[in-house]
Amino acid sequence: MENMKVPNHIAIILDGNGRWAKAKGMPRGYGHIKGCANLEQICYDIKDLGVKYLTVYAFSTENWKRDKEEVDYLFTLPIIYFDKYIDSMVNKGIKVIFSGDISKLPNKTMLACDRALLKTKNCNKCILNICLNYGSHDEIVRACKLIANEVEHKQISINDINEKTIQDHLYSKDLPNIDFLIRTSNEKRLSNFMLWQASYAELYFTKTLWPAFTKRCLIKALKDYSKRDRRFGGVKK
Ligand code: FPP
Repeated sequence: MENMKVPNHIAIILDGNGRWAKAKGMPRGYGHIKGCANLEQICYDIKDLGVKYLTVYAFSTENWKRDKEEVDYLFTLPIIYFDKYIDSMVNKGIKVIFSGDISKLPNKTMLACDRALLKTKNCNKCILNICLNYGSHDEIVRACKLIANEVEHKQISINDINEKTIQDHLYSKDLPNIDFLIRTSNEKRLSNFMLWQASYAELYFTKTLWPAFTKRCLIKALKDYSKRDRRFGGVKK
């Protein structure tokens, strides 16, 4: 696509699975399964466009407030997802990593995540960063504690703390900042997602519900991104 700028790092808040299913007279779980299938496809589309990093919000630290039945179901998704798609992800060169405290997830879910990490560790076409039990506030508190611990043990001094120190203690320490953040389902908020990493991201909100967000929708979003003038607080020369 001519003149289309390709972001290095895209983030997506995958929203609207429940409403999508409801509109079809189906249970919410059906929406989540379709949402998973869509994630696989969009991940390949994103990789094919040359994007190097994709971060997705799969389960937030606030999602624990949902009915236990739905929370339990959501934790089966990584198991189902990796069972079904991991081999094709390896073939396509997608490396899976996680942001969030996955040690708090049910054991089977955690093991499925560990297997995905291991299986894809040598893939290098595109990194899929899945945020599971993730919240920005939680991530920043965690970073502060890790840094405080280093100060306490005299590994660094307070005066050495700078932006890079914070960045280096985030879950996503090895990833570049987010260039383009998409949220589906017509909600226009960040919901505690990547607040540090998305500080200069271009934001894009669409009415389309996540399971219906196709490659065409992605291209439309990227055309919009291509028109943005990113100044990062500077002045255009
Ligand atoms: C939001 O829809 C979606 C979620 C809470 C979970 C989405 C996660 C996936 C589709 C992928 C999971 C994949 C892996 C590998 C973990 P919603 O339930 O908030 O929808 P609603 O706002 O319409 O109710």
